[in-house]
Amino acid sequence: MNAFPAVDPIPLPAPVWLFKALHIVTLALHFCAVELLLGGLLVAVGLCFFGGLRGGTPLLRLNAAASLTRRLPLVMTYVINLGVPPLLFTQVLYGRAFYTSSVLIGVYWFSVIFLLMGCYWLLYRFDANVARGRAAWWLGLLAFLLAGTIAKILSMTMTLMIRPEVWQAMYSAAATGNLPPPPDPTLLPRWLFMVAGGVVFAGLWMIWLGSRNQIDASVRSYLAGLGGKLAVVAVIAQLAAAHFVFHNQPDKVREGLVANPLYLGAGLAWFGTIGLILLAGAWAGLKKPTTAAAGWLCAALGLVAAIGLTVFRDGIRDLTLLGAGYDVWQRTIVTNWSVVGLFLALFVIGLATIGWLVSVMVRAEPVSEKVV
Ligand code: HEM
Repeated sequence: MNAFPAVDPIPLPAPVWLFKALHIVTLALHFCAVELLLGGLLVAVGLCFFGGLRGGTPLLRLNAAASLTRRLPLVMTYVINLGVPPLLFTQVLYGRAFYTSSVLIGVYWFSVIFLLMGCYWLLYRFDANVARGRAAWWLGLLAFLLAGTIAKILSMTMTLMIRPEVWQAMYSAAATGNLPPPPDPTLLPRWLFMVAGGVVFAGLWMIWLGSRNQIDASVRSYLAGLGGKLAVVAVIAQLAAAHFVFHNQPDKVREGLVANPLYLGAGLAWFGTIGLILLAGAWAGLKKPTTAAAGWLCAALGLVAAIGLTVFRDGIRDLTLLGAGYDVWQRTIVTNWSVVGLFLALFVIGLATIGWLVSVMVRAEPVSEKVV
């Protein structure tokens, strides 16, 4: 018996490939912001903990933490706003699987709203304390725990949506949405992959911050050097998590990923980029670069890695669903080109506006960021 609910009788208003392309672009951007948030929080907590309580050079560490914490609320706005578009595209393409999984764990799914509000509030409290020279690492740790829980719930939903074989039993056991799904060997590696990736991104971000003039010169080179070293360690951890994510997939999915040139290419692009990040991190760890070129190189590497992993992850979902009888490409399509054209024009204007806002921020008169 096919576990998927009946398909919506209203046809898709645009080709599947277009929805998929938009989904991948926006989701890759969401992942960039998520990784900066998770990793930036972890690193800022570590810097505050060791900078506030131990010996060494605490003021330097606190100033380095402040350069991250003052940007984290802004990063959170990107996490949320860049989460909405892929959410819409996921519903269009995978609604029958996605709605089922989110309803089955509805209590967890709804709790994301409250966890998000708590996390956002804590980001402001954490930053306000650090800006006053207080190493309030516990506030950052709490914020990380909330963000990490949101990530876990999202991983839980996205893995449950590709396991139609457990839906019926879950619903029979409790129709109230408060039971977690049965254990899934891919869930923990998948979550660890995102958290380790967060530290990789935090390392790249620190190298980028090393090129920002408004930050004190000593803090800049400290950020670049530490960021490089952290990126190296985190790349190794992420590779280990990636190994478990891949090897815990069913044989059919693994074979399908290797046989499909798009997914294989995306996987290799991710792997190659992560190798370059390892080299760039090792170099930055030694040389502590404070040039704009080093910063932009890291930003580009992060973006390519995010796109590669998003396409590969898409392959895992499509191949798993295909094995269960759900073919995302089999939909009735009646393209409404005038609406598609209007949408694309607005989409490009939106992206250009974001680019312009970012460029204004980058060009803004530097304000000294020294804390203590
Ligand atoms: C602190 C906040 C957030 C964190 C840490 C976070 C983290 C994550 C993670 C780790 C995943 C990947 C899950 C996996 O496949 O294993 C994910 C996917 C996703 N997130 Fe977020 N997220 C956050 C907020 C949001 C918000 C506010 C939205 C929407 C408004 C959103 C929309 C999505 C969507 C749509 C996906 C998956 C789409 C797909 O698979 O097609 N996220 N997020």
